[in-house]
Amino acid sequence: MSSITLTNITKYYGNVEVIKKFSGVFEDKQFVTLLGPSGCGKTTLLRMIAGFEKPTTGEIKIDDVTVSSANNFVPPNHRNIGMVFQSYAVWPHMNVFENVEYPLKIQKIPRSERNKKVLEILKAVDLSQYAERMPNELSGGQQQRVALGRALVSNPRVLLLDEPLSNLDAKLRETMRFEIKEMQKKFGITVVYVTHDQTEAMAMSDKVIVFNNGIVQQIDSPVNIYSNPANQFVADFVGRINFLDADIFEGEIKFSGGQVMKYSGDKRGKAVIAVRPENIKIRTDEGILCGKLSQAYYLGDVNDCRIDVDGTEVRVIREGRTYGEIEIGANVWLDFDTYHVFEK
Ligand SMILES: Nc1ncnc2c1ncn2[C@@H]1O[C@H](COP(=O)(O)OP(=O)(O)OP(=O)(O)O)[C@@H](O)[C@H]1O
Ligand SMILES: [Mg+2]
Repeated sequence: MSSITLTNITKYYGNVEVIKKFSGVFEDKQFVTLLGPSGCGKTTLLRMIAGFEKPTTGEIKIDDVTVSSANNFVPPNHRNIGMVFQSYAVWPHMNVFENVEYPLKIQKIPRSERNKKVLEILKAVDLSQYAERMPNELSGGQQQRVALGRALVSNPRVLLLDEPLSNLDAKLRETMRFEIKEMQKKFGITVVYVTHDQTEAMAMSDKVIVFNNGIVQQIDSPVNIYSNPANQFVADFVGRINFLDADIFEGEIKFSGGQVMKYSGDKRGKAVIAVRPENIKIRTDEGILCGKLSQAYYLGDVNDCRIDVDGTEVRVIREGRTYGEIEIGANVWLDFDTYHVFEK
């Protein structure tokens, strides 16, 4: 068992409140991602869980043990937590084996036991054949795996990963995502993962916590975060989306340009209608909104279109092979049945 419970956590740096009353439970063996823009407090929260920062108020428990509260503070080396920092630092003067072995040396584990454990971890992170190499003889992804191995070697109950893939190229990032996920399952660890990359959050997490300005916006499964965003910030931050200003009356939505669509919901007044570009179909016969195709970009797999609807640009993502079917400047209809209404 290794769940983490945070209750009413706030953190001030000087008089700036960086984390605002955060409460949440990270359940045993779950992969939870903290997602949010730069400066929103992700690293700060992670450092408080690890014990490198003390919350200004609130309580942190790992399982039933209080590790941080007004009158109790367990230092990082007694929390049994592995952490890979935002700028993963592997020690340049130690080879791969020695880097991974280091935490066990500090714990004064006997040599034979250390050897066995390091070899096991090197195998798990797929670095067995690189044991003798120095870090400067490794690729970024391999160094990343050294940092991961070093974090895993002491059998941590909890693994904290702070943007561990940010220094890697796109392809390697994708591979590493799955490797980390596999390792989490294999070792049955509770993972708290920090990223500002929404695709990464989607691909890896059981649960995503979306933050903005130190305030939780939504805690949910990746599917719900994407398909049922709690507010306009989440809708905008996760994935791509169009926002159309409108007024809602009994039975209809009137867009700012004057066009009208049927509505059976119970919201009223000024609102923003949010529609994802992949949820809009372009038709030449009839649809909900009419506009003019103003641009189309061929990106191989997709045809990324812009439609001018009464002066508002609407993005529509179609399959790549539809590119060129409709001429730029042509009048088109937009049709959609999936959308969100955010009251203003
Ligand atoms: N030691 C510190 N002293 C004062 N302010 C700090 C300190 N550490 C962080 N901050 C501030 O706290 C806020 C949150 O920082 P944090 O590092 O948690 O953000 P983040 O979400 O991890 O951002 P990024 O995605 O850029 O890594 C920022 O405004 C930052 O400037
Ligand atoms: Mg950070």
